[in-house]
Amino acid sequence: MKNKLIAPSILSADFGNLQKDIEMINKSPADWFHVDVMDGRFVPNISFGFPVMKTIKQYATKFIDVHLMIVEPEKYVKDFVKEGADLISIHYEACTHLHRNIHQIKDLGVKAGVVLNPSTPVSVLEDTIMDIDLVLLMSVNPGFGGQKFIEHTYKKIHQTKALIQQYETNTLIQVDGGVNQHNAALLFKSGADVLVAGNAIFSSPNPTATIEMLKK
Ligand code: DX5
Ligand code: ZN
Repeated sequence: MKNKLIAPSILSADFGNLQKDIEMINKSPADWFHVDVMDGRFVPNISFGFPVMKTIKQYATKFIDVHLMIVEPEKYVKDFVKEGADLISIHYEACTHLHRNIHQIKDLGVKAGVVLNPSTPVSVLEDTIMDIDLVLLMSVNPGFGGQKFIEHTYKKIHQTKALIQQYETNTLIQVDGGVNQHNAALLFKSGADVLVAGNAIFSSPNPTATIEMLKK
């Protein structure tokens, strides 16, 4: 997979006309669909589940990246694969048996990512980095779109990059939360491969132009 990818977050799309926003992303230079699933237990918000996932799969022509902000993700990964996920990311903080859960996802034939909350140090990945396709660094506390970017994410990108180099893996680094036109270039320069953006894209007057801007 090439880097410098943009993954618009469907969480900020117009659910009254989801097909229109999905088709906008299909036609835009965006690379992935980022799908935020929240259960009201792991995070203090509920987003959506399988019916919305079905609609995304029905119209999307690009890679589908599912970010599970739920407790006991192992109970649902099989169904998300069935509904079209190409990559599933699970939170380190939500998994008692992270190694088992990563391999459960990979055995289903899709890519596996691990997400770290802003308060979780990168060092917890020392024994899993060789098994995962992507590290998702949360740059806000998960649960809501439109929050302010947490600056210490840059330090965590450098630490993740160092870990990837130490273990010589091809793991991608993704950053999620508060990404916009002002910080995207520096995030890519710092070593991020994939940037998620919700509010910056969908609340802009020209979402396609904003995606183009984020990619540059
Ligand atoms: C936060 C979600 C993010 C969020 C990003 O819990 O994981 O993907 O939608 O939204 P913005 O870009 O608005 O911060
Ligand atoms: Zn997300």
